[in-house]
Amino acid sequence: MSAPVVDRVIIFDTTLRDGEQSPGASMNIDEKLQMAEVLALLKVDVIECGFPASSDGDFAAVKAISEAIDGPTLAALSRCRRDDIVRTHTALRAAKRCRAHIFLATSEIHRTYKLKMDKGQVIACVREGLALARNLFDEVEFSAEDAARTEPDFLAEVVYEAIEAGATIINIPDTVGYAVPQQFGAIIRNLKTKVSNIDKAELSVHCHNDLGLAVANSLAAIEAGARQVECTINGIGERAGNCSLEELVMALKTRHDFYGVETGIDTPQLVYASSMLTRITGLTVPRNKAVVGANAFAHEAGIHQHGMLMHPSTYEIMRPEDVGRAGTSMILGKHSGRHAFSYWLEVNDFNCTESQFEEAFHAFKRLCDQKKEPAEDELLAIISDILHPAPHVLMTNGPFARRGM
Ligand code: KIV
Ligand code: ZN
Repeated sequence: MSAPVVDRVIIFDTTLRDGEQSPGASMNIDEKLQMAEVLALLKVDVIECGFPASSDGDFAAVKAISEAIDGPTLAALSRCRRDDIVRTHTALRAAKRCRAHIFLATSEIHRTYKLKMDKGQVIACVREGLALARNLFDEVEFSAEDAARTEPDFLAEVVYEAIEAGATIINIPDTVGYAVPQQFGAIIRNLKTKVSNIDKAELSVHCHNDLGLAVANSLAAIEAGARQVECTINGIGERAGNCSLEELVMALKTRHDFYGVETGIDTPQLVYASSMLTRITGLTVPRNKAVVGANAFAHEAGIHQHGMLMHPSTYEIMRPEDVGRAGTSMILGKHSGRHAFSYWLEVNDFNCTESQFEEAFHAFKRLCDQKKEPAEDELLAIISDILHPAPHVLMTNGPFARRGM
C-alpha cells in the first residue's frame, strides 16, 4: 500500500528579518545565531536570516548564520537590483540550500509615490533581477510588495513574468495589513486561475497585522491554495507585526479536520522558541496571547475549573504539552469555586470536616478579595492555621498553579 500523500504548508520564518524590523527587536550577530538555532530546532522549513544590503551588521549576521545552521533552507531579502542581489549571494554563499527573496512593489500607490516607475518599468525590472538571481541561487522567491493593494490584472501579469524569469516561489504580501480574509483568499484564487504558468511556482503569503487579521488572512490564503506562509515567532514585525507562527501552526494542527494540511513544525518547541525570543529582544508577550501567553492554559473561573477537573476537553482545545507547556494551570482566585478549592486542599494533603471546609473556603475568599493574586504560601499559611495539616506538607508541595493535570 502506498503512503498517503501529505499536503504540506511550508513555514517560512522571518523573525530574523521582518521580525527584527519591529521597533525594539534589533539583535546582534550572536543573538541572531542563537535564535536561528532555536528556529532550526523548531524545524521551520525556511529561515529568512536578514537583509544583507541593509547594513554591514546584517550582512555579517546572514553570513554567520549560513556558515553555522544546517537543516532549513536559508533565505535573505534583496531589492530587485544587481548590487543587492550579488551582495545577498555573497552573504548566503556558505548555505547548503540558499534562496534569494527578491521584492519589488507593484501597487499603484507604491509605483507612483515611492518607485516613480510605470507598469512597464516594473515588469522590466522584475525580468532583469530574476534572470540574474536564478543563476546564483538554489531557489528564487519573488515578492510583489503591497500585492494586496495592487490592481488584480497587473498583479497577475507581474506574477506571470516573475515565473517566466525564473521565480519558483511567488509571495503575495499584504504589506500594510489592509486585506480582509475573504478578499485575500480571492486574490490567491484569482492568481491560481488567471496566471497560465502558476503551476511552475509555489504560492506564498506574507501578512501584516495592522487590523489584527494576519493569521486569519494567512489561513484564508491556505484555503485558497497558498502553500507557504511567512510568519514570525510571537508575531513580531513591522508596526503591528506579522502573522504569528505559533498561532498559524496550532490553528492548522488543531483544525486539521477543516484545513487538512500539515506543517513540519515540532510544536512542543513553541513555548521555548517564544520565550527565547522574549529573552533575547526583551519584547514580552501579553499573558492572554494565544498559544504561548502565560494564561493560554490557565483557568480561574469556578465553572471552568469544575469542567477541567472533570475532563480537560471541556475548556481546552489544545493539549499544553503539544505547545511545550508542562501542564494546565488552575489559578486559585476570587472567581474559583468550591470544586477547585477542594481539589487544592486534596493536592496539599489537607483533610477536613464539612464545617472546617466552610471556614477555610471563606478565609480563602476573603484573601482573594484583598489580593489580586493570592500567593500560594500566604494561602497555605492561612489555611494551615484553620486545618493544621501534617508538617511535611508545607515543605514538599509545589505551587498548585503549576501542577499538570
Ligand atoms: O511586508 C512586505 O511586503 C515585506 C516584503 C519585503 C516581503 O516584508
Ligand atoms: Zn513584511
